[in-house]
Amino acid sequence: MRQTTIDSLETRIQQLETKIKPRLSVLMNRLQVHHGRMWQPGITNDWKLAGYELEKVRETLTDLSANFGTDKYADSTIDLEISKLQSTIALMEQAVKSKNKDSFVEHYSALTTQCNSCHKATGLDFYKVIQPVTPAYSGETE
Ligand code: HEC
Repeated sequence: MRQTTIDSLETRIQQLETKIKPRLSVLMNRLQVHHGRMWQPGITNDWKLAGYELEKVRETLTDLSANFGTDKYADSTIDLEISKLQSTIALMEQAVKSKNKDSFVEHYSALTTQCNSCHKATGLDFYKVIQPVTPAYSGETE
């Protein structure tokens, strides 16, 4: 293949890669949805649902660590912040597995603090993540 063809294909691949990468705020909104949704099942012993939502948080975090690097917020503390959340999620998985509500609540609170700690580290200290006050599944809970 001619070098110019190879060069233009490489450029095209790079453009496509940029296009398919989800925006950071899209991933953050996904994180928020699942973070919010797992609270109610966690405090009402609906462990299957809590576990499902927790898994979605984990998946989103995996996508996040794969995509954060090229973002304008990228810096050396990000990997550390993400790894803190990953350890907390591992503890929450144990809580869900052993149906331990107290442990779930304790680690949920740690997770929420860690969301805010990264927001602080990236200059978004005005964006506070909180523990939900109303159930995310309003149609399914009392
Ligand atoms: C690794 C750092 C980091 C972690 C961890 C983190 N955030 Fe974020 N968050 C950001 C950054 C940076 C932005 C700004 C994104 C932008 O504007 O492009 C943001 C923005 C947001 C937004 C606003 C998005 C929008 O477009 O409205 C929400 C919601 C959010 N985060 C939720 C969460 C939740 C919930 C958690 C924890 C489960 C969390 N974040 C953990 C860095 C982080």
